Amino acid sequence: MKIIERTKIVEIASVAPNREVCVKGWVRTRRGNKNVAFIALNDGSTIHNIQVVVDINLFGEEFLKPITTGACICVNGLLVESQGQGQSVEVQAQEIEIYGTADPATYPLQKKGHSLEFLREIAYLRPRTNTFGAIFRIRHHLAFAIHEYFNKQGFFYFHTPLITGSDAEGAGSMFQVTTLDIVHPPKTEDGKIDYSQDFFGNATNLTVSGQLEGELGAMALGGIYTFGPTFRAENSNTPRHLAEFWMIEPEIAFYDINDNMNLAEDFLKYVISYAMKHCKDDIEFLNQMYDNELIDRLNFVINNQFIRLTYTEGVEILEKSGKKFEYPVYWGADLQSEHERYLVEEHFKCPVILTDYPKEIKSFYMKQNDDGKTVRGMDVLFPRIGEIIGGSEREADYDKLLKRVTELNMSTESLWWYMDTRKFGTAPHAGFGLGFERLVLFITGMQNIRDVIPFPRTPKNAAF
Ligand code: 4AD
Ligand code: MG
Repeated sequence: MKIIERTKIVEIASVAPNREVCVKGWVRTRRGNKNVAFIALNDGSTIHNIQVVVDINLFGEEFLKPITTGACICVNGLLVESQGQGQSVEVQAQEIEIYGTADPATYPLQKKGHSLEFLREIAYLRPRTNTFGAIFRIRHHLAFAIHEYFNKQGFFYFHTPLITGSDAEGAGSMFQVTTLDIVHPPKTEDGKIDYSQDFFGNATNLTVSGQLEGELGAMALGGIYTFGPTFRAENSNTPRHLAEFWMIEPEIAFYDINDNMNLAEDFLKYVISYAMKHCKDDIEFLNQMYDNELIDRLNFVINNQFIRLTYTEGVEILEKSGKKFEYPVYWGADLQSEHERYLVEEHFKCPVILTDYPKEIKSFYMKQNDDGKTVRGMDVLFPRIGEIIGGSEREADYDKLLKRVTELNMSTESLWWYMDTRKFGTAPHAGFGLGFERLVLFITGMQNIRDVIPFPRTPKNAAF
């Protein structure tokens, strides 16, 4: 075969026709008649396929037989304006090399539309479908937009550990990390597991959040953000929970809760606008195939101010709504997704930021209000998602923090380094965590969080 530099399909529209090109990709479909075959080829660079037109007399039927759905080929040919409908240019094949075949009897991805549930079972192949190609390109662009946003703000990307001895959220649903023999672990004299013999010399787990270490960064660099995987061993089998998910956690010195809310709102609007600009074809595809209100919803979020109110005001609205919820609502209750979505979708019809939650339902590190009952936490609630961001102003006062940690029977021993920041140059500061997959869920209009991460980890499932 002649050696021609490969052109990605996404770039083909900007190549002047009547030139020789080389395209490579996976066959989506093949149709035609005795004389001519039309191959729809996709290389993942775009939702669009390139049509390859093959003169059967030139190649012979036998040669073309293995070029079926899923096969990978390389085509040299002439790029011409297309006579057919649905594409502006096509490639008239001159030479074809078959890189890999895909036996139609066993290749699971045939042309017909497959259910999302079925595709989850073959997650190793689903990136080859239009839907998952679109989702994973959007996911990439969002990750890029997030780094761009914080870089422009002058925040530093701060890498917090994945293996840690601390339980940042104090919630206790952690995956333990150990090299001890779990059948016969070494024991101390009083019969407990002797973690001094473990790899790190103490008990460790996968992180549930990079926040506590992020705060250390903010207390030195001013503004930082993390963007990494986090792990939660909670048995939540819902369309919005993963056991392994990616979180973005900015943490900023000298910010109060209002600065924090402003940042969260501006940040979300920026990354959504970015996706709409850079992933136009993919979002249009998803809008057409899955959710025809998607683009309207994205525009609405970009163009409207989020409503801000306190938890107490939110609970009053819910109590007065007369609506029958599955979980009862009263002051002090942890809000469920159904409550959050009622406020956002039915009452305000707008994203909402709730603040000042009862301290009992929030983490130990949140700044305590003077009322003795509430803390300066904030949750950003989105249509169809519920909570997309959770954050707070942090308790910067050593005595108040110590009192709360003690009330909650938390171990001050393992938190000594965190407590120390309140002794050495403490400062007001705030931050939040955005669940990356919840953001991707919102922007793609998908219904299930398992469909916006390439290889989801959920209870009883760590396949691939
Ligand atoms: O509300 P969370 O638990 O807050 C924290 O972890 C804080 N340390 C954040 C901070 O202030 N720096 O989690 C933050 C966000 C949630 O709002 C949600 O979007 C997402 O992380 N999240 C999950 N996403 C997928 N699967 C799960 N199991 C999630 N748990 C939380
Ligand atoms: Mg939360």
